Amino acid sequence: MKIVFATNNPHKLDEIRKITEDKIEILSLADINCFEEIPETGTTLEENALMKAQFIKDKFGFDCFADDTGLEVDALDGAPGVYSSRYAGESCNPQDNMEKMLRELHGEENRKARFRTVIALLLKDEQHFFEGEIGGEIICEKRGTAGFGYDPIFLPDGYDKTFAELGNDEKNRISHRAIATQKLVDFLLRN
Ligand code: IMP
Repeated sequence: MKIVFATNNPHKLDEIRKITEDKIEILSLADINCFEEIPETGTTLEENALMKAQFIKDKFGFDCFADDTGLEVDALDGAPGVYSSRYAGESCNPQDNMEKMLRELHGEENRKARFRTVIALLLKDEQHFFEGEIGGEIICEKRGTAGFGYDPIFLPDGYDKTFAELGNDEKNRISHRAIATQKLVDFLLRN
């Protein structure tokens, strides 16, 4: 089986290729010569993931899947959610995003949050969705250097280390994305 993952993120490709081994051939956007900006203008993770997969299916004709992830913070009514990458503005970086979140949550007691990943799969003209989530809390300062995005301020439930302190191997075993990816792979191997 051959399927396109609508990403060029080497970490995501690596992660899923490790799980699928040689059972499914995962092609990246570069592998199919897609170098265009794919629209991500949805207002939910589901919409964005589907939009990306549909773009590839329509333009290139491949069966395809795409993911979208957000950090949902209870005290911020679920924000930044689908807007997580640009929480502090259009041209912000992860440090700006974390600083803004720490400011917004200053003095807040309820620091509960979750990462949620949605994967949309277009296979043989059918749509399927797979979801993974991990609960935790936003701590009051940054800790750790591994990972990316909000990892230094996210403490997963049941752990005393942030995602950035756990390191990639351990994080990739328990993460929102790992859970969604495993569900996708189980489905693909059955179909
Ligand atoms: P994407 O949909 O995977 O591009 O994720 C959107 C944004 O969510 C990223 O730019 C990060 O800010 C944040 N994010 C997604 N996954 C993670 C993660 O595993 N750790 C920390 N931040 C993440």
